Amino acid sequence: DSREPQHSSSTEPEAPASGRTLWHGRFGEPPSDALMAFTESLSFDQRLWPDDIAGSRAHVRGLARTGIISDLERDQVIDALDVVAGELDGGRFVFAPSDEDIHTAVERRVTELAGPAGAKLHTGRSRNDQVATDLRLWCKRELRLIAERVIALQQVLLDRADAAGQIYLPGYTHLQRAQPVLLAHHLLAHGWSLGRQVERIFDALVRIDVSPLGAGALAGSSLPLDPDATAADLGFARRFENSLDAGGSRDHVAEALFVLTLIGLDLARIGEEWVLWTTDEFGFARLDDGYATGSSMLPQKKNPDIAELARGKGGRLIGDLTGFLATMKGLPLSYNRDYQEDKEPLFDAVDQVRRALGAITGMISTATFVPERMQAAADAEASSATDLAELLVQRGMPFRDSHSIVGALVRESLRGERSLRALVLEHPALGPDAAMLVAPGVSVTRRITAGGAGPIPVAVQLERFRASVAALRARI
Ligand code: ARG
Repeated sequence: DSREPQHSSSTEPEAPASGRTLWHGRFGEPPSDALMAFTESLSFDQRLWPDDIAGSRAHVRGLARTGIISDLERDQVIDALDVVAGELDGGRFVFAPSDEDIHTAVERRVTELAGPAGAKLHTGRSRNDQVATDLRLWCKRELRLIAERVIALQQVLLDRADAAGQIYLPGYTHLQRAQPVLLAHHLLAHGWSLGRQVERIFDALVRIDVSPLGAGALAGSSLPLDPDATAADLGFARRFENSLDAGGSRDHVAEALFVLTLIGLDLARIGEEWVLWTTDEFGFARLDDGYATGSSMLPQKKNPDIAELARGKGGRLIGDLTGFLATMKGLPLSYNRDYQEDKEPLFDAVDQVRRALGAITGMISTATFVPERMQAAADAEASSATDLAELLVQRGMPFRDSHSIVGALVRESLRGERSLRALVLEHPALGPDAAMLVAPGVSVTRRITAGGAGPIPVAVQLERFRASVAALRARI
């Protein structure tokens, strides 16, 4: 029974055994401890095991299809791969000190289990095309999951925007109050940006969805392999076009890191905003207890740690991206061991972005908005200055002149003797109709153009956003 553990040394002297590297044949001495400690990647590439098993299944089926191994040998290896998958999944897999990486570990164990058939698994394959295949499979799965989570955050923004109705708050430029905007408009601004990141994930996936299997170490093979067939077997859209490029490029990893970083930076912006909104000074929102933290010393504190960490992780994600770009720079064709450095930044970026998305989504969905504070801040009289200037334009005045008149009135009102409203009322070019524009809640209703911040265009925008989220979801 090929499922029973078996020691390859008793049946096949050349098969890798525990304690040996995959490449021991060329070497008279065993590897030094220092070499193994420095070059191993098992400590971080273990998580590739489902993809490594999938890649090996496809490879061994391909070997059998072209007659390089028998159907019986194929079945023995597939059975062994099933056992190994079960052991890894159940946490029962015993790693050997010579397991440099997950690829070595799986092959060693398959050979222990399947004997001579197991020793044929790596025929026509190199760890160079193997690891490239594994990582592309991993990226396809994980980036889709990230896209799903981004869409879940978009949905929360949409739900909260829907429920926000006519609530408005100041819109800012330079973090100075500029013009009032509907809260829905503000929330959807982040939603649209996140939607572009989902589109970028789909774009990146087009280039990620290419099988490198069959490229060998760098140049292909003398054996009758069929890279198109293994690509199809693994669910890739197509195979590599050039074997040097297949194992010797990682621009798709850099692209994935870039998209992840952009998502992280969107979350960092949202985080910064919520740090401000939850201060006593702004007071625009209150966090749910489950999404805030306390102070070890100051009993009264309620801190927005999720928002702050979302902001802080932006730096780390930029580091993951730029660090790996620096690793890639100037590497000659094709595979270089430097590429092993692709995994930790990529895994870190995916982990951090996934957790940040979960936390920020929960924080926003459970927080309470404080419309009174938002609207009081937005109802500062000067917020309607542009509306006043535009009213004069509608009465035939050149905008540069009306801008100057209203600017002077604002300056006058800031002296504190008379309100802007009073000054507007008595100004010969303005008067009572103009004074009505200074009243609370009026300004935001004046933003009527397509894509603008007022109730009329925002109602349209909400429906367009809803449709765009549904379209992204349908593409997952
Ligand atoms: N652990 C290696 C990596 O991540 C696998 C490929 C090793 N290839 C080699 N020629 N040493 O890149």
